[in-house]
Amino acid sequence: MADSKQPADSKRPDLEETTNVVEAHATLLETGAAQSREKRIAETGMEPVSLWVFVASAVVLLVGGGVLGAGGKLFEYNPHPQNYTRPEFASDADTGPTVGPILEALTKRGKNIYAKCSGCHGSTGSGDGNQFPPLAGSDWVTGNTERLAQIILNGLSGPIDVDGKTYNGNMPAQAPLTAAELAAVMTFVRNEFNDVGDIVTIEQAANAIKIYEARPQGQITVKDLNSNHDKMLEGESIDPATTVDFETLKPAAAE
Ligand code: HEC
Repeated sequence: MADSKQPADSKRPDLEETTNVVEAHATLLETGAAQSREKRIAETGMEPVSLWVFVASAVVLLVGGGVLGAGGKLFEYNPHPQNYTRPEFASDADTGPTVGPILEALTKRGKNIYAKCSGCHGSTGSGDGNQFPPLAGSDWVTGNTERLAQIILNGLSGPIDVDGKTYNGNMPAQAPLTAAELAAVMTFVRNEFNDVGDIVTIEQAANAIKIYEARPQGQITVKDLNSNHDKMLEGESIDPATTVDFETLKPAAAE
């Protein structure tokens, strides 16, 4: 009888059947079960994914599908509510002449910005004779530009005499305005409702904005206007007939 503890690597057939097959299989099965209870070590990158990752992905897919299914409204481009009309504060450079006297260029632009004021002061600048004072025939409009600019930027409260009548209301501040917008609206009210015949330059308007930014917040009063701002705005004046490009307001050659 051969030794039952024959070396495993023996290549000779086990003719005498010294190995107990049942026993040998049993040990194999045992190790197999034990091994299968161990966590299998997968190759890097091939590890099984956690259940929670599956659940999270499912939620994302469901919600995403819902959004797309609902007509893709999330991606719809409709920034304005219905019946919304954009206020025309832009320059009018796309219509009419594009080169002309600076007085005309600023008045044209100022007319658009005056849309901010016309609700109170009226489209012809005549006020309502009761609560809102007129801009036509008002010394506050035709007089010193620093006063006018500070009324527009800061708003106004308390009594004010306009064309022989006392008003005592509240005008909200119209700032922020860019220097070009302020120059334009001031030139407009001085020349459309009155005939001052000069222009407020962008440089002068920029100086008005500096003065406005330096003073404490809040509406201005007549007392403050008369004691601190009763002067013309600083800045070189420009001949109202100077030819400019309507878009840039910079000097241009006549067409
Ligand atoms: C919400 C209404 C309202 C708006 C908008 C408004 N104002 Fe006024 N404004 C008034 C009232 C009210 C007074 C008088 C305030 C007071 O009695 O202290 C006044 C006074 C004035 C005055 C001094 C008095 C006069 O009539 O000359 C000027 C100048 C003026 N506003 C210009 C403007 C300009 C320019 C704009 C637009 C950029 C504008 N206002 C926008 C209501 C308004």
